[in-house]
Amino acid sequence: MGQVTGLYFSPCGNVENIVRTMASAAAEKLGTEPQFVDFTRPMARKKDYIFGPEDLVFVGLPVYAGRLPNKIAPFVAAGIRGNGGAVPVVCFGNRSFDNALAELFSLLQQDGFAIPAAAAVVGQHAFTAALATGRPTPEDLEAARAFAVRAAEKWLDGACLSQRDIPGQPDASYYRPLGLDGAPADFLRATPTVDYALCNHCGTCAAACPMGSIDRDDPGKTVGVCIKCQACVLKCRRGARSFTDRAFLSHRDMLERDYARPAENCFLV
Ligand SMILES: Cc1cc2nc3c(=O)[nH]c(=O)nc-3n(C[C@H](O)[C@H](O)[C@H](O)COP(=O)(O)O)c2cc1C
Repeated sequence: MGQVTGLYFSPCGNVENIVRTMASAAAEKLGTEPQFVDFTRPMARKKDYIFGPEDLVFVGLPVYAGRLPNKIAPFVAAGIRGNGGAVPVVCFGNRSFDNALAELFSLLQQDGFAIPAAAAVVGQHAFTAALATGRPTPEDLEAARAFAVRAAEKWLDGACLSQRDIPGQPDASYYRPLGLDGAPADFLRATPTVDYALCNHCGTCAAACPMGSIDRDDPGKTVGVCIKCQACVLKCRRGARSFTDRAFLSHRDMLERDYARPAENCFLV
C-alpha cells in the first residue's frame, strides 16, 4: 500500500475539514500516516502533484454555482496526476451540488485515476451563516469517516465507480444565481468593500485570498480576479470587509428564504 493523501482547495475551511477527516480515517484503515496538500494559495498551484499506482488520494473542492470554481478546475486538470485511486469530494452550502461532483469525477478520471468512491458533503454556506449552520456537524464528520473507510476497502478490492454512477453532467452550464424577485442576480464584478475605520492593515485578508488579488498596501484595492469565496470577509478579525453589492445581497437573501431545509450528504461507494 502506498500513501493516503488529502488534497484540497478550501478558502473558508469546510472542504479542508472534510477532506482531512476522510484522509485520516482511510489512512488509519490502511495502516499508514495521512499526507496533506492544501492548494488554496496561488503558490501551491504552481507545482504539479503526481501520485503512484499504490496511492489513494482524496481530492476536495467547494461547489461554486453548481460546478467547481472555474478558476481552479484547470489546475485540477493540469496539476494533479496519478495512476492509483482518487476519491472526488465536493462540499456545498445547502442549495445543491448540481454538476460539481460529476465534473470533479470526470477531471480525476482524465488525470489517470481509478475512482472507488465519491462524495458531496454539506457545509455552512460561505455567503451566510444562516444556511447549513454549523455543518459539517460531528454527525456529518462521523458519516464522512465511515464513508472513507468503505472507500479504502473498495480501493483494496479493486472496485470502481463509473461516470454513470455520479449525478449530474461534467460539462453542464453553471447555476445562474437568482435574486429575491426570481430574476438573475449578476454580481460577477462585485468585490469586497473595506471599512477603513476598522481596518488596521494587518494583512490577514491579503494572505487569505486564494487568488492573491488583494493589494497588501491598500486592502481596499482588488488587483486581480475576485472569486467571491468570502475568505477575506470571514477571516478579517475586525469585521472590516463585506460585500455590499445589491445583486449579491439579494441572492443571499433568496438562498436564506428558499434553501433553509437541511440538505443531505451524498456518499457513493
Ligand atoms: C462563489 C460561491 C458560489 C457558491 N455556489 C454554491 C452552489 O451553487 N450551491 C451550494 O449549495 N453552495 C454554494 N456555495 C457554498 C459553498 O459550496 C460552501 O460555502 C463551501 O462550504 C465552501 O467551501 P470552503 O468552506 O472550503 O471554502 C457557494 C459559495 C461561494 C463562495
